[in-house]
Amino acid sequence: VSEDTPPLTLPERSLAAVAGHIKSGRARRIVVMTGAGISTAAGIPDFRSPETGLYANLAALDLPEPEAVFDLSFFRENPKAFYVLARELYPGARYRPTVSHVFIALLARKGLLHMLFTQNIDCLERAAGVPADRIVEAHGSFATQRCIECKAEFDDAKMRAFVAKGEVPRCEAEGCGGLVKPDIVFFGEALPRAFFELSDRAKEADLILVMGTSLQVHPFAGLPNMADEDVPRVLFNLERVGSFGTQADDVMVLGDCDAGIRKLADELGWRDELEKTWREL
Ligand code: APR
Repeated sequence: VSEDTPPLTLPERSLAAVAGHIKSGRARRIVVMTGAGISTAAGIPDFRSPETGLYANLAALDLPEPEAVFDLSFFRENPKAFYVLARELYPGARYRPTVSHVFIALLARKGLLHMLFTQNIDCLERAAGVPADRIVEAHGSFATQRCIECKAEFDDAKMRAFVAKGEVPRCEAEGCGGLVKPDIVFFGEALPRAFFELSDRAKEADLILVMGTSLQVHPFAGLPNMADEDVPRVLFNLERVGSFGTQADDVMVLGDCDAGIRKLADELGWRDELEKTWREL
């Protein structure tokens, strides 16, 4: 960071500087962007990690390529593959939010969360206490499901029963019989309207936190570039991704996101509150 940059920028690229930015009251509209990397500590595999990622472990499903499991045209031909996976991924009581999810809920509790954009379909942000009106589930979620032909909604309890058995639910509307799919965004489908209506919130950010994503999938991957040049951006990720490192105020905390978040909480003096909230979930 060159000496003559305006005071708003971070005095140095460190978590202490990020904490100072927040404690100074200059970061009041924090926008957070998350991906599967914040849920791996909860026991949910991410997609692209070499050994443990979902795409490296779908061999048993005999797919043309891993992403086919989330491809709409493949689903029409072979819905069983998705439903075998859905049984693993379906949010239920078995997965607890991580410290990273709870940190985002603390930001909301302190009135500092402008918006959370998540690519995850595990609903752990909601479970951690992030208010629904502060979450954009850019790739949908398992919360609702409908027929891909007539779009009729399908009953939640019936869906849970089918998913638990790894069976394929079909539409019960008169004369339809179409395939039922959760409202998660498959490759080839448009993102929810809320994403396009609310993506401008990223431009209003005065601090951006990106956590646990490879930033491989657009249009979500474009969000971190929407803020002004002088808005500090912090990456909590095992590896450097996207355009991080190209802007003056980029801070990269490379490593386990929970560890990085705990360090930031220490710098903020929020660590006890963070651990207590997480334990009491
Ligand atoms: N701490 C920090 N980073 C982690 C951790 C962890 N504990 N675990 C994994 N990561 C990092 C990985 O190194 C990787 O950079 O999180 C990132 C996860 O990337 P992906 O597996 O590609 O997941 P994501 O970015 O959410 O994928 C985006 O792709 O398949 C589609 O729709 C699906 O929403 C998904 C989208």
